[in-house]
This record gives sequence, C-alpha cells and structure tokens, in this order.
Amino acid sequence: MLTSSFRGVLFGWLLVVTCQPAFAGSAGDYEELCRLFKNGTRIRKPGTCDHYIQCVDGEGTLLSCPSGESFDPNEDKCVTTLANSHQYCGNRCEGLDGQWVSDPTECHKYFYCMNGVPLAGMCPVGQHFEESSQSCLHGVDSQCVDVNNICELVAKDTKFRAEDDCSSYYKCDSKGNHEVSSCTSKAVKYFDVESGNCVEPKLVECTAHPKAGICSSSQVVVFKSDGASCRGYFMCKALHPVADLDPQWMQCPEGYFFDEELQVCGRATSVICTHNRCDGRGTMLVTSSSNNCHNFIRCENNKEVEEETCHFDHFFDERIEACSSTIIYDKCCDDRD
Ligand SMILES: *[C@@H]1O[C@H](CO)[C@@H](O)[C@H](O)[C@H]1NC(C)=O
Repeated sequence: MLTSSFRGVLFGWLLVVTCQPAFAGSAGDYEELCRLFKNGTRIRKPGTCDHYIQCVDGEGTLLSCPSGESFDPNEDKCVTTLANSHQYCGNRCEGLDGQWVSDPTECHKYFYCMNGVPLAGMCPVGQHFEESSQSCLHGVDSQCVDVNNICELVAKDTKFRAEDDCSSYYKCDSKGNHEVSSCTSKAVKYFDVESGNCVEPKLVECTAHPKAGICSSSQVVVFKSDGASCRGYFMCKALHPVADLDPQWMQCPEGYFFDEELQVCGRATSVICTHNRCDGRGTMLVTSSSNNCHNFIRCENNKEVEEETCHFDHFFDERIEACSSTIIYDKCCDDRD
C-alpha cells in the first residue's frame, strides 16, 4: 500500500512527466554494470529486448540482435522468441492500469501504468523504487543493485559482485530475483567474480573491505587492520558509547605496512603481516613473514608470485634484495614460526 505522502509525490510527478519522453536513459556508458560481472558476460541492455552489452575487461560495447530477434540471457544469444522475460524488456505496463512498475533502466525510476501506457516518474533523491511494496524506499533498504530487476538481464544462477563489500556477492535465482550471500564463515574470504568462488582475500582486487565488527566503542580514535591487506586500515571514530559502524578505510604509503600494535604505518620489514606483502612494492623481492627471516617473496606488479627460501641457512636481506650470511633480525620475520 502507498502512504498518502507517497501518493502525493507520485501524482505530483504525473502532472510533470507526461510531457517527457519515457525512455531517457543515459546512453553509452556501461562500465558500472559490467564491473559487477565476470569478464565476457553479455547483458541484455536494460529496458530493451533486442540490444545487449558485451563486457570485456570492464568496458561495455552495445550490440544489437538481427532485426526481429531478441537477446536471451539464458541462451546467451539472440533468439526469435523470448520465453518468459518479455515483460522486462517490452512495455512494462502492458495490460496494467492504476499501478506502478519499476523502470528497468534505473533504481530510482518507475512507471505509473494508465490503461497500459507507461508514465515515467522518479523517487526523491537517495530513494529507490520497490515494486513489491509499490513505494519509494531509502536506497539502503532497497533490493535494487545498479538497475531494477538486474537478474532479468543475465542468465539464471549468475553470481555477481556486491560493490560495497568484498566478502559478499549476489546470486540470481531462476525467478529473476537476487539474494546476497556471504563468503565469510570461519575465515574471511572474498568473492572472486571470475571463478564465482570465495577465495583468500589477497587473491582478489577489492578495496571495499567489510566494516562489520571492525570498530568497538571508544573515547579515542583507534586504527584497526582491515584484516585483508598489509597497507589498509580503518579509522574508527571516537563515538563512545557507541561503535563506529562506518569507519573510513585508508592505506599506508607504498613501502609501509599498517602496524596495529603501534598504531602507525611502519616500514614493511618491521611489520608482521601475512596478507599480500607485495602490495605497493611493485616488482622486487621482499621479506616474508614466515620461516624466521629465511624466506622471501617474489613480487610482480604488486602481486605475490612465489615464496622461496634462501640456501645454506642464509637470511634474506630486503635492503639488498638478496640472501646473505649475516643474521637478519627484521621484526616482520624474526622469532616467528
Ligand atoms: C577478458 O576477455 C577477453 C576476451 O574473451 C580476453 O581477451 C581478455 O584477456 C580477458 N581479460 C582478462 C583480464 O582475463
């Protein structure tokens, strides 16, 4: 049911919008949509039946089906007849009178159906249209991800990224709805969109580290590790008696890692960290935090390639990027294991 104030908003819009074109979607830029899905995904263009977006390396190219054909995301190709999802690509108001339906092109837009004719309108700033409740909801309370009915655009069972949390993902069911799932059970894992699996955080490029449970109530500002990277940390504001639920994520400069014990960014060789120790180091050899300073990690383009051990009980000296017979007491590896 609509609240009376929402009714007011909708009818107010009706007076204004009837003279505007119904489809005024922003054209040409599909990066936001493509970023959610794995490389190579083809997505039916929101609000159309016969156009699709080919996503390659995060960029979307708009393509169209041969005349008379429609793009079927389940078949991943253009077909002559669409099974059941035509209602999301044709006139969404067909056969409807006196109700609201979501506009497939944007979360905050809807159509009011008058005798099958769609009249476009939009929710107040920061709100999304929710068809199930026939109302505008605050963005955070809404199901909408990027565009309304996003699962109507891709194959069923598609898994896609949750951009506000690396440890979560969405999954489309066979009815075209999506549900959020968590990658974290015993240990924190991050969603890898390419494999569709939950993996070690250091294997995924994602900076939307989960914020849940990071901060506790405090009378002073406290810095906490993000739990997934060596440089990243959260700044928990002093909000005593409550905890900061939305701490800001920050990063130590290149060559420095976050030291939670000392509450500072310290030189990488002085900070124990077993996440990606190549973060911010480029291509070089760096000290490992395991095997008492005998191990080193080969970094290529800020990624760990392999971990090796120095020969003859030698120690790894990061200053010269080589194994040495001198005993090394770097804090990141000394007296560990
Ligand atoms: C993405 O897919 C394209 C075409 O299939 C391929 O050429 C490209 O290397 C892929 N990119 C990555 C990062 O795997």
